[in-house]
Amino acid sequence: MVAPVTRKIQPLLTLILAAGCGADEPAPDATVTLSALGGSGVAGTIEFTELAEGGVRVDADITGLTPGQHGMHVHEWGDCSAPDGMSAGGHFNPDMVDHGAPGGATHHPGDYGNLEADADGRATLSLTIDAISLTAGDEVNVLGRAVIVHEKADDFGQPTGNAGGRLACGVIHVTGGTSPPVLGPTPGA
Ligand code: CU
Ligand code: ZN
Repeated sequence: MVAPVTRKIQPLLTLILAAGCGADEPAPDATVTLSALGGSGVAGTIEFTELAEGGVRVDADITGLTPGQHGMHVHEWGDCSAPDGMSAGGHFNPDMVDHGAPGGATHHPGDYGNLEADADGRATLSLTIDAISLTAGDEVNVLGRAVIVHEKADDFGQPTGNAGGRLACGVIHVTGGTSPPVLGPTPGA
């Protein structure tokens, strides 16, 4: 049905298709467009949907990866300007707890475990978490913060899972709009 499209326009097409079908599926409340860092070629989209029964569903669709596992987290600052992604700061960690797996006893609000990329370098992930919010003013609100996809697997070690370099970055925006980025003391650093 869908003719081959270039990687560049695929995320847009994915959004259009998602909006055009599944009328009983709730529209995502927040969306991330991930862009490649340092010429990595990794890109994709992530959608966050608040569920009526509580929790937030996270749906990610990412391409351009090397096959295998790649860590993915919410980082503190909504700043993807540095070519190595370090401008996004460390893991979003308002309660100063240990890093971990999303279902584990202790983890940061945006610890999403690992993406599993197939032989074509594409990874999809869908999980429901209760550790974040999409409401301004909440301590664990992630709007305006960044999601980073990493070079290596998250091994859930301290302090941040040993996931290596940063391959893609995107700021979490309210769907169809712009959320003011949460910025650190030295934006762009
Ligand atoms: Cu990270
Ligand atoms: Zn973490």
